Amino acid sequence: RKVSLIGVPTDVGAGARGASMGPEALRVAGIAEHLAKRGLDVKDCGNLSGPVNPWQPPVNGYRHLPENIAWNQATHDAVYQELKDGRMPIMMGGDHSLALGSISAVARFCRETGKKLRILWLDAHTDFNTAAMTPSGNVHGMPVASLCGFGDETMIHMSGHFPAITPDQVCQIGIRSVDEEEKVFVYEQGVEIYDMRYIDENGMKHTMQKALQGLDDDTHLHVSFDVDFLDPSIAPAVGTTVLGGPTYREAHLCMEMIADTCRMASLDIVELNPALDERNRTAVMAVDMVESLFGKSTLVRS
Ligand code: ARG
Ligand code: MN
Ligand code: MN
Ligand code: MN
Repeated sequence: RKVSLIGVPTDVGAGARGASMGPEALRVAGIAEHLAKRGLDVKDCGNLSGPVNPWQPPVNGYRHLPENIAWNQATHDAVYQELKDGRMPIMMGGDHSLALGSISAVARFCRETGKKLRILWLDAHTDFNTAAMTPSGNVHGMPVASLCGFGDETMIHMSGHFPAITPDQVCQIGIRSVDEEEKVFVYEQGVEIYDMRYIDENGMKHTMQKALQGLDDDTHLHVSFDVDFLDPSIAPAVGTTVLGGPTYREAHLCMEMIADTCRMASLDIVELNPALDERNRTAVMAVDMVESLFGKSTLVRS
């Protein structure tokens, strides 16, 4: 299995500076070596480049819209190229706005190759805001809505197909912070959501069985892993921490059950903010989770 690491050092979509240092922190935590140890053919493509963070207030409901478009176009093009080359792209973010670029490229590739796309969104947040309803203007709170066709014109047409995806292709896990209008909108759009209450009541095993049901040989599974999915006690270095996330054991089980499907074909690792970390522990934690996503297990499994 060939994988390509793509660094996307952007924080123009976030409300805190520093996610732009995420790719390097993941490298320092040994992401490439740990993946190689899993038997993967790893190529590190280096970092994409894009505009610096102008650190300005929102304009018409968006902070840094032109900068976000530029980073996402670069991400889209790089991801599409790696997929064409038969490699599995792993995006090292960067804030979660980059998922618009990565997933629109994946959606385009699936359309061209006749694959069915399913998206697993591991996050404390639904990221389903629009410019009209966002309380912050931060574009990392909007990528799922944009992918579904609600957002800036350039963003929603990035993949050359409108909309890039439909809400029924998305399944969200770990949700525990949704803004007032966003809550109503994401419900109306019918996104499949397993929030923390669902996980509390039913357990992670049952939750993942539901979330992963119906995958078949023709399914391309994209995993968008926002590090703030994890409980802040194990992953403090994110800009938008929310208490009450999956524990170390629950998160591992989630990752292992995804690995068991053998369907993951692209991955975003986003929102890691090394400026907020202690001795890179959150990057090390993220790499630990990624190893499980790629099938690391304690025992030989039959
Ligand atoms: N809902 C909040 C907002 O729109 C927070 C979004 C956080 N998103 C993220 N990818 N960390 O500003
Ligand atoms: Mn989040
Ligand atoms: Mn997110
Ligand atoms: Mn290790």
